[in-house]
This record gives sequence, C-alpha cells and structure tokens, in this order.
Amino acid sequence: MKVKGEYYRTIWTKEGDNKTIQIIDQRSLPHEFIIEDLTTVDQVAEAIRDMHVRGAGLIGATAGYGMYLATLEALKSPSFDAHLELAAKHLTATRPTAVNLAWAVNRQLTAIQKGSSSQEKVNIAWRTAVDIADEDAEYCRKIGEAGLKLIKEIQFKKKGDRVNILTHCNAGWLAFVDYGSATSPIYAAHDQGIDVHVWVDETRPRNQGARLTAWELNEHGVPHTVIADNVGGHLMQHGQVDMVITGADRVTYTGDVANKIGTYLKALAAHDNNVPFYVAMPSSTFDWKIRDGCTEIPIEQRNENEVRYIQGLYEGKIIEVLLTPQESPAANYAFDVTPSRLVTGLITERGICDANEQSILQLFPEHKKI
Ligand code: MRU
Repeated sequence: MKVKGEYYRTIWTKEGDNKTIQIIDQRSLPHEFIIEDLTTVDQVAEAIRDMHVRGAGLIGATAGYGMYLATLEALKSPSFDAHLELAAKHLTATRPTAVNLAWAVNRQLTAIQKGSSSQEKVNIAWRTAVDIADEDAEYCRKIGEAGLKLIKEIQFKKKGDRVNILTHCNAGWLAFVDYGSATSPIYAAHDQGIDVHVWVDETRPRNQGARLTAWELNEHGVPHTVIADNVGGHLMQHGQVDMVITGADRVTYTGDVANKIGTYLKALAAHDNNVPFYVAMPSSTFDWKIRDGCTEIPIEQRNENEVRYIQGLYEGKIIEVLLTPQESPAANYAFDVTPSRLVTGLITERGICDANEQSILQLFPEHKKI
C-alpha cells in the first residue's frame, strides 16, 4: 500500500543488508511514521509482544523472519538445533491468541529440518520467511477479490447507492504484509469506483481502529467515520450498516472466530438486525485442531495499564494520560470468540464459505481427517 505516495509493505529486509529486518513501528501511528530495525530474535520477540507489529498475518510474517534471524544466531551457538528450538519457544510465547504465530514458527521448523548443513538451513529459513510474507500479501489480495463480489451485490441491491461497511479493530494492511483481510475487499471496491464508506470502531483499549484503520483508509482516500465502540448497534438498528467485515486471529475448523475484544457484541447486534456479518482471513488463521472456540482458544490478557491510560498527541508530542481513578484496577481481555452461528460467512483466499465444518473443509479438503 502507499504511504504519502510511496509503496510500502509492513515488513521487509533492509536494502543491501538481508540480516536486518525492517518494520513500521505501529505504536507511533498515526502521528509519526517510524521504521525500526530488527537484528536479533530478542528484538523480534519484543516487537511482537509490545505490539510494534501486530495483527494476525503480520505477527506470523514477523515470526517467520524471527526464525531466519534465529538460524543466523544458531551459527554461533554450540548446538544449532537446540538454539532454534529455544528461539521457536521464545517467539511462540509472545502472543497466545493469533494462531498465525505458531503456524509460521512451525512452518519454519519443518522447512529448516530439511537442510543438511547449517548454511543450507540458514538459506532455507531465509527463503521460507520471504515465502510466508509474499504468500500473506497474495492471499490478502485474493480475499479482496472474493469480498468484492459481496460488496457489488449490495451495491446492486441498493441501486448504486453508497455501501456502508462496519469494521472492528485493524484488519487492514498494517495487520498483514499488504492489503489487509477485512479492508482488502473495501480497497478493491474503492479502486473500482464503488461508493463505499467505512464505519471504523475505535476499538478500546489500544484503539487500533481509531489510530490505524482510520490512518490507512485516509492514506488510501476511502471515505470513513470513526465511531466509539458502542455506536455500531445503534447504526445497525437504523439501517446505516449494510455489512460488517472483521478480521480474525484464530478460526476453528468449525467456524468459531476469535478476534479483537468487542467483535462478539458487534456480531450479536448484526444478528439481531439482519446485517450480514463476514469474517475475512487467510487460511493461516485456521486452527485445524480446535473444535470449540469458546472454550479452547486461549484469550490473551494484557497489562491493565492499556485500559487505565490512553495515548494521544499533545503539543506535537505523543503522550499517555491516566483515564481512571489512580486506585481502580482494570481487566484487559484482548480477544473474544464469536460463535459460528453468528457468522454469515468466511472470506478466504480460496473464496467464501459458510462458518461450519462441512463448508470449511469443502474449501480446504486437504485438512479433512481420514
Ligand atoms: O491485538 P492485535 O492488534 O494484534 O489484534 C489483532 C487485530 O488487529 C484484530 O483482532 C484483527 O481484527 C484481526 S488480525 C488481522
């Protein structure tokens, strides 16, 4: 995607130095655009844990590059394989909910094992990291193509009137390597001249909607309005939302969806108002082992200060201010699970399916258990 007219992905290797990984530090957006260098596994782990990078796809791609850096570090360690195993555990422990993280680390471990010398393992890890990133971008582009059909159908029904889409959190290109999942169909529709407008949930506590989705849509010129998290239900009741598209951090093979906290409430409101509720995600977000999302998906609990404090721009500087009484404790559940029965469909790189085991496995037959 473009930032001030220049093409960027969210992760890449430094020109002329493929031992340095570069990312956009998302903690400073939308007020400052900062590029950060990552050269060690520890730095990669910190970048994921402290959310310099975030979003399921980008977490996976960053972990992929992290494992490549791990092979470089392993060259200097007494046991190459033991060092890799430790790095894999270290990276996987940084954020528990987005399954793309473990998926990318395991894909790297399986690929690296095939190398017969240490140098060959390094080369394989490099290639696999690039493949994971390229694949993520390409799958998101395809999600855009699939979701565009849905937007066109709504536009047709509305006789060309504006299509209003509500989204939660940031499942845009910042959450992936490029395009985004939930935003990809929106960018595709906008680029084809369809009149789309996006209701952007602010997404407390870290405000990924207000800070990141709004910034992205602004950069791309897509009409949008930021709303407080509690507004969506009211808008749906009054016919001002034609569809909801969210991303996902983990989707069971039965169609339950873990996504940013607050998604479940939007799905309930959408269900009550007959508003279609779609979830856009690449297949790397499926958890092929878990049947019941509500009881089996680990829900990350983050530091209570993310709820107690709020970040913003004051006299040109990014500052944090206390929001709650100093003494009040806070709880910070980062994700919730929307049961499949509330999901109209899943938009994937292979097309759209219903949120149930049969339909998902029809699209991804290689995951059928024999
Ligand atoms: O905590 P985050 O910002 O990493 O949460 C992930 C998200 O951005 C959302 O849950 C998103 O909708 C799914 S990730 C594409």
